[in-house]
Amino acid sequence: MSTTQLFEKLWKDYSSRTPSAEKVKHLFESEGNQIINDHIAFRTFDDPRINIDALATIFINNGYVYKNDYHFTKKKLYAKHFEHKTDKTAPLIFISQLITSEFSSTLKDAVSTMLDDIDFNTLNIEDLVLSGRLWGNLNYSLYANLLKESEYAAWLYVNGFCANHFTVSVNHLDTFNDLKAVNTFLKTNGFKMNASGGEIKGNSDKFLEQSSILADKIWVEFEDGKQEITSCYYEFAYRYKQGNELFKGFIADSADKIFESTNMNIK
Ligand code: NI
Repeated sequence: MSTTQLFEKLWKDYSSRTPSAEKVKHLFESEGNQIINDHIAFRTFDDPRINIDALATIFINNGYVYKNDYHFTKKKLYAKHFEHKTDKTAPLIFISQLITSEFSSTLKDAVSTMLDDIDFNTLNIEDLVLSGRLWGNLNYSLYANLLKESEYAAWLYVNGFCANHFTVSVNHLDTFNDLKAVNTFLKTNGFKMNASGGEIKGNSDKFLEQSSILADKIWVEFEDGKQEITSCYYEFAYRYKQGNELFKGFIADSADKIFESTNMNIK
């Protein structure tokens, strides 16, 4: 699979889970913009069979290299970002994993049960980023228990392996000069911003500003009834020059707040 095909497949899967992203993309395009992705983010657990490095396989095989890592102490997460070796317009890839050893036995057992359902003999590791939920029936009381400990774990339990968010590069939008103008446009069009830590995370001193709309909610079938649960969200990033080139990394404090875009308790 070429990188172009891979990103098309990822977008198709992501936009089917995230109708708002498709709507926002069309709104930008109807204003005369072409969408370039700044980065695409994925979530996983730290088991070596499905961890960051396992999810990264398909990107590494397509010309990506590891660039940097990040620690999120409070959320008990670890992340790495990858950059394409030669294609400067290819999106960065940001993959995080939950440090399961720091959680209760309820959470650890739930993750083991999920992984027991995966047939690793037949799974092609390159397909993992597109494979969705690979475990059986969902239980709402388990979901609710996971949610109390880690919003991230609960989200993964329901959504499985997929792009958690795509991110529009605001630098590449022709009709918007900054993130504030993008946010105003989105709010005018009825979208709700993630306001955790302020609508704009980061600043020019950190070389990166980010904002996001709140995740869509989709109906999910649980053994014990249907519930509306957060799926994925769309993010927007504006990068400043560090020296002669645009800053290419991430800011842990900002990402920490962006994670909250899938929080069920933010309305
Ligand atoms: Ni992001």
